[in-house]
Amino acid sequence: MQLSTKHLLGIKYITRDDINLILDTAVQFKEVINRPIKKVPSLRDVTVANLFFENSTRTRISFELAEKRLSADTVNFSASSSSVKKGETLLDTVNNILSMKVDMVVMRHPAPGAHVFLARHIDANIINAGDGTHEHPTQALLDAYSMREAVGDLEGKNVAIFGDILHSRVALSNIFCLRKLGANVKVCGPPTLIPRHIGSLGIGVSHNLKETLEWCDIANVLRIQLERQDIKYIPSLREYAQYFGINKKVLDGLKKDIVIMHPGPINRGVELTSDVADSRQSIILQQVENGVAVRMAVLYLLAEQRKT
Ligand code: CP
Repeated sequence: MQLSTKHLLGIKYITRDDINLILDTAVQFKEVINRPIKKVPSLRDVTVANLFFENSTRTRISFELAEKRLSADTVNFSASSSSVKKGETLLDTVNNILSMKVDMVVMRHPAPGAHVFLARHIDANIINAGDGTHEHPTQALLDAYSMREAVGDLEGKNVAIFGDILHSRVALSNIFCLRKLGANVKVCGPPTLIPRHIGSLGIGVSHNLKETLEWCDIANVLRIQLERQDIKYIPSLREYAQYFGINKKVLDGLKKDIVIMHPGPINRGVELTSDVADSRQSIILQQVENGVAVRMAVLYLLAEQRKT
């Protein structure tokens, strides 16, 4: 089987079959990264450029590890130390890098749609590692993989996404991915942090933390993105934590055990207390481990596509 697409620009642009193919392929790569020798030759002779125009810890390291585990050659670019600072355009920057015979581009960029623009102009496979507040497809795939590992098939499961939905590319990619996999999705947070028409994506909306926690099998908790808040959306972080923060007392008061997820970085004491983030119900570090396997699957399947 092959992916239906040459690029991974967003979950919006791929099919349910593509998602299942990536998740099933990742199962095999998870086995590889847990062997004593964690390397396979699948991407030998493939060169990947990791272009990060925005900060990242998990995604950048995870992609770099995935590429190395697949024996690809990698080059890393960070905008803060590049000629972007001298005014070079995105297309000029990327074309100059591609002139050095690069096959695949992994890019994080603050502008929503930057990857779609690039895909119209260059030949290399493009993987979106986050575009502004739009999509973060590999995060949604690793989240779906981790959910499947925790609760089995996602068809009919209840997944709630909590927090700053308005500024979150993780929320949008998760919604697209979970709906395609047949899960029921609800978002929960203060009205100011939930886009007005988000219900039209076929999901529920709630402003009640306790009720939503009682409803869900899985809680995917998102960070308040202080760096994207040009105006004040909440009175204070303390008040947010009081009404929407998940702590041990709230979790222990539920009638059932739920799975706790977070894409990171966590604002400890705001959206999650440490005793929840580090509890046995939390699969946050499994998400990070699974990210390498899922990104290996994406890189491998796109490289296979190149051969056809
Ligand atoms: N989850 C995530 O995208 O984290 P980074 O911003 O550290 O890559």
